[in-house]
Amino acid sequence: MSTLSLKPYSFARRLPAIAPMGAAQAAKKRQVIPLSFGSPHSDTFPYKPLIGAATDAIWTHGRDSLQYGGAGGPVIVLDWVARRSALRSIHVDPSQVLMTYGSQQALDYVARALLDPGDHAWLEGPTYFGAVSTFRTAEAILTSFPIDEDGLIVEEVERALEEAERLGKPLPKLFYTMPNFHNPGGISLSLERRQRLAELAYRYNFFILEDDAYTELSYTGQSLPAIYSFAPERTIYLSTFSKIIAPGIRLGWAIASQDTIARVNTFFQGSKASVFSQEIVAQLLTRLPFDEHLASLNKLYRDNRDAMVDALKISFGDDVTFSIPEGGFFVWLSFPEGIDTSEFVKDAEERGVSFIDGKQFFINGGGARHARLSFSYCSEEQIREGVALLAQSYYSYLDNRRR
Ligand SMILES: Cc1ncc(COP(=O)(O)O)c(C=O)c1O
Repeated sequence: MSTLSLKPYSFARRLPAIAPMGAAQAAKKRQVIPLSFGSPHSDTFPYKPLIGAATDAIWTHGRDSLQYGGAGGPVIVLDWVARRSALRSIHVDPSQVLMTYGSQQALDYVARALLDPGDHAWLEGPTYFGAVSTFRTAEAILTSFPIDEDGLIVEEVERALEEAERLGKPLPKLFYTMPNFHNPGGISLSLERRQRLAELAYRYNFFILEDDAYTELSYTGQSLPAIYSFAPERTIYLSTFSKIIAPGIRLGWAIASQDTIARVNTFFQGSKASVFSQEIVAQLLTRLPFDEHLASLNKLYRDNRDAMVDALKISFGDDVTFSIPEGGFFVWLSFPEGIDTSEFVKDAEERGVSFIDGKQFFINGGGARHARLSFSYCSEEQIREGVALLAQSYYSYLDNRRR
């Protein structure tokens, strides 16, 4: 080691200031029941078919399956995504689908393609912290808008757009929204609001970034048309195989108009999203009865959701409110005014359960009386036990405050 003393080094300003949340955070503490953990249940991974698919990917495509993917991967996957998207009224050519390293990479590349430093990005509050971190890295100025049980309150967005135009204030370059089974809100955007937001995107000339990571996890089997279907030239639609196959595959996608997708594509320097992963998924999709697979994973998640809803009613009665999610992974709790859930995160962990306090999902420190619980990763038994521990922690926090 050098005897010279180490000078402080100034890392890039854009380095995310936010510590990794959720999965990354919970993974450190295995003995804690991780209701903070927004990951799929490992039992939902099509384990055996994946082993066959991985072997076949190599036998069928030999060393090409392990090469750089200049051309962008197998058409089977692009075709499948394009066909499947029609269920959400998205009718596109496979050439409008861009495969990415998870939808997180799509978020990053879209942010780079649309935002210069100082541009305005609008989003929901609460929202997905992975997206917030990406927009902050792009040095965008963020503004958030509330949600209710019908999703983003589009009327408030409309008022803000009118006001910005009237006062000559900057308009957003993009609006980031999660229309189905919101993370963390658990709710979905109504049809009327989807149409209204699409109209606003044309009128005020911004892009809608529609993050639809949980769309296949509908416990009622119903789904509304994507916002994309109402504003195809001003929407970039994102989804992922993470929740329906496995996140370790690291494959997501973006769908947009030919012109927009070509621009986002320019950020792939030389190689594309893993060709090997795409070859595996291509093999998998030809051998897996996908609808059966989906039905079985949705059954597991629905049972877990029911276990969590039951447990919450038993442990909290009317002391917390929440809307029962019809899909996805999350229950968003509202405690009474004045409660700050971050004040019992540590105590809950000491008792053996983790959750994420509401403030983590807001850009401006709001949301203190909320909390996100995830029912996806744990067993029903862990969910019941975890919620009971959370209640113990909450009521002891209340007792301490009263004293
Ligand atoms: C709303 C939302 N978007 C995107 C992602 C990222 O998913 P991927 O694994 O495809 O990068 C997640 C992951 O939890 C998410 O909740």
